[in-house]
Amino acid sequence: MNTVLVTGASAGFGEAICRKLIADGYKVIGAARREDKLKSLATELGDNFLPLQFDVTQKDAVDNILATLPIGFQQIDILINNAGLALGIEPAYEADYTDWETMVQTNIIGMMHLTRTILPGMVERNFGYIINLGSIAGTYPYRGGNVYGATKAFVKQFSANLRTDLFGKKIRVTNVEPGLCGGTEFSNVRFHGDNAKANDVYKNVQYITAEDIANTISWLVNTPPHMNVNSIEIMPIAQAPAGLNVSKEM
Ligand SMILES: NC(=O)c1ccc[n+]([C@@H]2O[C@H](COP(=O)([O-])OP(=O)(O)OC[C@H]3O[C@@H](n4cnc5c(N)ncnc54)[C@H](OP(=O)(O)O)[C@@H]3O)[C@@H](O)[C@H]2O)c1
Repeated sequence: MNTVLVTGASAGFGEAICRKLIADGYKVIGAARREDKLKSLATELGDNFLPLQFDVTQKDAVDNILATLPIGFQQIDILINNAGLALGIEPAYEADYTDWETMVQTNIIGMMHLTRTILPGMVERNFGYIINLGSIAGTYPYRGGNVYGATKAFVKQFSANLRTDLFGKKIRVTNVEPGLCGGTEFSNVRFHGDNAKANDVYKNVQYITAEDIANTISWLVNTPPHMNVNSIEIMPIAQAPAGLNVSKEM
């Protein structure tokens, strides 16, 4: 039975991915900062689920916790770097600089920590799979997406470069790039708890759901080992990169 580590397991995509992969028969380690959320997920998912409280930005703490995993969960075969966030939607000249730093620390540095710690074991065993949660924001610019989109562009290029470093090894890498997805805490976090603003984002739009993403991840991990999906971009039908715009009133 393969073991999967999912970061950002206390909400949204991560929580749905844990549920789906447990149902698929995997052992799952779910990590996040909020212990209460992880504990209630553990109660629901049973003995094949291990809740792990850590902050991906704290490398030493993460390394210590991963070095002392309980028997049965020590060999991580699949790493899903999902923990991440967007903060703010202001243009670059008005954005909160600490928000920028938090996004870089979480989306880039956090993913680097987990990957650098877990990848050597995969290489030793010549077996493994890393799935990173990128975003369409890493490809298509949008107003206020400044640093968030740039962190996801990093995730995209890092994923591609991992494939290159792992050439000739039986370790797979995929960058999953979702578009507008509702039913998670993503926008509540982005708007610093202003739930009315967050809800507005999804009003009158059929968005993709966390379950859609979990089903995609389940499909990916169950594809045959000789096959590598380098990247997969997913949008709701209601969203499209709808061409260049011209402002008439400048
Ligand atoms: N929703 C979308 O529209 C969308 C679209 C494209 C890409 N994405 C990406 O998909 C991923 C998941 O998004 P989501 O919509 O599921 O967001 P979400 O509902 O806000 O969940 C984010 C998860 O990340 C965890 N997290 C945040 N900072 C962390 C840290 N420093 N250490 C450990 N865990 C941390 C949170 O848990 P704690 O707060 O308990 O730590 C939470 O479990 C993110 O990388 C996001 O950028 C989302």
